[in-house]
Amino acid sequence: ISLRPYNTFGIDKTARFFVAVTSIAQLKEALAWAKSQNIKPLILGGGSNILLTKNQDKLIIKNEIAGVKVIKEEADFFLIEAGAGVNWHQFVLTAIKNNWAGIENLSLIPGTVGASPMQNIGAYGVEIKDVFSSLKALNRETLEIEEFNAAQCQFGYRESIFKHELKGKYVICSVVFKLTKEPIYHTEYGAIQETLEANGINELSIKAISDAVIQIRQSKLPDPKEIGNSGSFFKNPTISTEHYEGLKSLHPTIPGYLNDEGIKVPAAWLIEQCGWKGQRFGEIGVHSKQPLVLVNYGEGDGNEIKNLSEKIQKSVFEKFNINIHPEVNFL
Ligand code: EPU
Repeated sequence: ISLRPYNTFGIDKTARFFVAVTSIAQLKEALAWAKSQNIKPLILGGGSNILLTKNQDKLIIKNEIAGVKVIKEEADFFLIEAGAGVNWHQFVLTAIKNNWAGIENLSLIPGTVGASPMQNIGAYGVEIKDVFSSLKALNRETLEIEEFNAAQCQFGYRESIFKHELKGKYVICSVVFKLTKEPIYHTEYGAIQETLEANGINELSIKAISDAVIQIRQSKLPDPKEIGNSGSFFKNPTISTEHYEGLKSLHPTIPGYLNDEGIKVPAAWLIEQCGWKGQRFGEIGVHSKQPLVLVNYGEGDGNEIKNLSEKIQKSVFEKFNINIHPEVNFL
């Protein structure tokens, strides 16, 4: 079958074997079948963080495990368990409707609940790790369910243990979030403040923040339903203070944000300075409002996008001596 509907880049590659699973029992069955046929399984969530560069011989297992339920209520918070296959933004909307606070800044991020801890999704000052309680994952070898707490997930900026030591070893089946009754608002991002002001919001609410985030994202990120893309293609690099100071003397306008490891520089700025913003090459290109996003205008090929990404990496390295790394997984 064509995988085009299953990746937000809209790349037209095929899968030899494909199955959608809606329960842990079905997931186990699919994994056991793959093992018996000596075929490698590949788990797919919303397909919003992959770039298909070839037809797939693996068994593609689309995780559609559903369900959102309150598993515990305390004086000031709820523990909410959501199935891995639940659409992330639908989950955020459910939280807002029920007044469960904590994920409103993460509105409109493409993908699924199950994929969210994988790369510790984040936006506008909030990351999954801030609201994460635990997750249940199926061990692919033993077919047993195991529980992971936040420390065991080893979250970092767009990172978790599931992208490293445990890569390919577990399938995330459900995630438990700790969402609070009293919201703690994160409005430090300039764009959020401006949008709240423009919307005439005097009294904050999680709904008002979610609406603002949706507006901001819609104004600068392409809708995958119209133009294929995978959100930010690269991660923002962190460089040493010395490196940053050196660059600052050559490029006085270079933005930078202090973090634990050094100075984080927006990859979007670096890419724009190299002249890539808005460039189109046939069916693919660099988005005109957010150069961190690579796009497929329709019939683009995964390899063309990969080549373009390598050219961008090279030019950023030549101009700034900074290596930028993809956030997207190449398959
Ligand atoms: N910038 C430019 N030119 C542009 C756009 C941005 O120079 O055309 C520079 C500006 O200096 C701007 C800075 O980049 O201040 C930051 O831009 P933005 O606020 O759009 O955020 P980002 O760092 O580019 C990250 C995440 C996004 C997330 C936003 C908002 C990564 C890799 N990306 O982007 O996440 O929505 O912050 O918090 O960390 C995603 O991961 O797929 C994603 C969209």
